[in-house]
Amino acid sequence: MDHFQIRDGVMHAEDVPLPRIAEEVGTPVYVYSRATLERHARVFRDALSALDHPHIAFAVKSNPNLAVLKVLANEGYGADVVSGGELNRALAAGMKPEDIVFSGVGKTHAELLQGLDKGIGQFNIESEEEGYELAAIARRHGRTAACALRVNPDVDARTHEKISTGKRENKFGVPLDRAAEIYARLASEEGIEMRGIAVHIGSQLADLEPLETAFGKVGALIGEIRAAGFSVTHADLGGGLGVPYKAGEVLPSPADYGAMVARVTKGWDVRLMFEPGRVIAGNAGILLTRVIRSKRSGNGPPFVVVDAAMNDLARPAMYGAWHDFEAVEPTGERMTAHIVGPICETGDTFAMDRECDALGAGDLAVFRTAGAYGATMASSYNSRGFIAEVLVDGDKFAVVADRIAASAIMDAERVPEWLL
Ligand code: LLP
Repeated sequence: MDHFQIRDGVMHAEDVPLPRIAEEVGTPVYVYSRATLERHARVFRDALSALDHPHIAFAVKSNPNLAVLKVLANEGYGADVVSGGELNRALAAGMKPEDIVFSGVGKTHAELLQGLDKGIGQFNIESEEEGYELAAIARRHGRTAACALRVNPDVDARTHEKISTGKRENKFGVPLDRAAEIYARLASEEGIEMRGIAVHIGSQLADLEPLETAFGKVGALIGEIRAAGFSVTHADLGGGLGVPYKAGEVLPSPADYGAMVARVTKGWDVRLMFEPGRVIAGNAGILLTRVIRSKRSGNGPPFVVVDAAMNDLARPAMYGAWHDFEAVEPTGERMTAHIVGPICETGDTFAMDRECDALGAGDLAVFRTAGAYGATMASSYNSRGFIAEVLVDGDKFAVVADRIAASAIMDAERVPEWLL
């Protein structure tokens, strides 16, 4: 359920007609709905209500906009961060340091120190080497860092290979069969307190079974570690729940997920932690774009060239991902078209042979389900700058990220004197 619906022939974000945003802010622009974000945050939390005090940390990478983070902070969400930059954002949005989890295979010395300094709640360490480094830094600064060891359970998440993280050949976590000994060695290090196990096998999972398999392996590992005399009080089950990208697509619901988690983790006697991203933000955002022109192409369908491009929304070019494409003011007429952006490479294609609302030059359209892994993955390729982001709340809206003009990016560049 989201709040981007056609009303009186015009698509609205909550109570705001999208043409108003296009007029006042320009296109392309990302538009987020506060009510949708809140709804998703509550649905996910309610789905876990059978668990004892679950900790929910929004995966900041999916949508790091400060206003979005603030909405989630108000909902009591913590943050899962993977860089010093994301950590700063979570704190700036008012998330409590103790509710922040720091994940990632390549945390630098400076980032580990930053996490310690800010007093974050947990480091998810991804290698034995990282554990020793963190322990040494913590000792030097007279701190103790709470840690979970991320394991790689060697489970195929059956999602796109580029967003699969839990196979043996992926770079993430430590191999499951070595996890107990690594945990034991790190548990005796001063400066860190080993308190849990973390797992995350991939994103946009359309099936709960791989998650259930991975969680089962984590449960067995917790038993093994405890049998060896070490304490495990936390288990971080990551994110990964998929969302529908196509109208009519049905995916496991948060309630299905919550029920599975409750069943599999029964008796673990740990505090469970979660890192959802897409399921919270995905359908809470759209990318609003305007058709520049429609270009005939021999006998085939026309190329509809929109003003958004792969630098604004990378998912179709990067993963062949599908985003529903709809007119803001549909006439009922339909067409088949190739939907492309203006960037000078063929990869800048949103859809081929797409059956969609009929659209012509000047018309507004949206790519749906762009609230997660949309703006956050933007680049300035073709010197296009970064587009604005807007948050709608009922009948009002605010620009929550200014457009960053290509000229501002150019201003950061210098030609050295010896080249002049
Ligand atoms: N926790 C960890 C450790 C992660 O690596 C991720 C996502 C999440 C949580 C959140 O996963 P989610 O609930 O959003 O599935 N750019 C790709 C997705 C990359 C996901 C990376 N990790 C895309 O556009 O599909």
